[in-house]
Amino acid sequence: MIIAQGVAKVYDNGTQALRNINLTVKQGEVVFILGESGAGKTTFLKLLLGMEKPTAGELIVAGTSLIKPRAGDIRRLRRLTGAVFQDFKLILGRTARENVALSLRILGIGWSDNRRRSKAALAAVGLADKGDNLVETLSWGERQRVALARAVVREPRLLLADEPTGNLDGASVGYVAQMLALAVKGGATLVVATHDSRLIERLPGRVLVLEQGSLKEAPVTGREQAACGQGGIE
Ligand SMILES: Nc1ncnc2c1ncn2[C@@H]1O[C@H](COP(=O)(O)OP(=O)(O)O)[C@@H](O)[C@H]1O
Ligand SMILES: [Mg+2]
Repeated sequence: MIIAQGVAKVYDNGTQALRNINLTVKQGEVVFILGESGAGKTTFLKLLLGMEKPTAGELIVAGTSLIKPRAGDIRRLRRLTGAVFQDFKLILGRTARENVALSLRILGIGWSDNRRRSKAALAAVGLADKGDNLVETLSWGERQRVALARAVVREPRLLLADEPTGNLDGASVGYVAQMLALAVKGGATLVVATHDSRLIERLPGRVLVLEQGSLKEAPVTGREQAACGQGGIE
């Protein structure tokens, strides 16, 4: 699903966000990317979605080369991808359910199917009773879960989540973990940037660490260290 060879990203201002990333992720795999703030996690997810371009190397996602994408390639990739970034990009003035439903309407899903799936997705993240609420009236954690429902409801082949449990309490983390697990069960490949041991404990997956733009497999003890809290892996 993902093949990265020697991928680097230098931003226009000269910041080297990623260096020599080599990674292969198979369809259906779960990958956690740990790393301190500024390590390059968000940049890496943006590259996978074609939101930023690598400045070196080869990056292929779902068969599409993101170095020189052909017309329509990025659009095709986005149709099969669900993504939750930290700014959510929910549409204000619309309800939680409308936000989720829009994600399906773009895919051409008909009205009744759409309504059923949107309701189910909101219920899965513990927001069954908030579907009719305007998103601006929801708490931060609730908005975060609406954004996740919107990404997962599409039944994506690739699901990218950028710190999906940042600032969430324990119960909400449980819903997020459950929703991610549901996506994986549906066959999604999952790449999650997180330093939340509560999430890593709940989902079996491969743990990688970004350190100043370089990617490393977590040491064998990585999971246990992560489970002890505060990112763990040094
Ligand atoms: N648009 C940008 N322009 C220039 N530098 C950026 C941009 N986005 C991120 N960076 C820099 O790239 C590095 C990695 O950032 P980021 O990928 O956001 O890390 P993380 O998500 O792990 O906190 C940081 O040094 C950050 O300041
Ligand atoms: Mg980030």
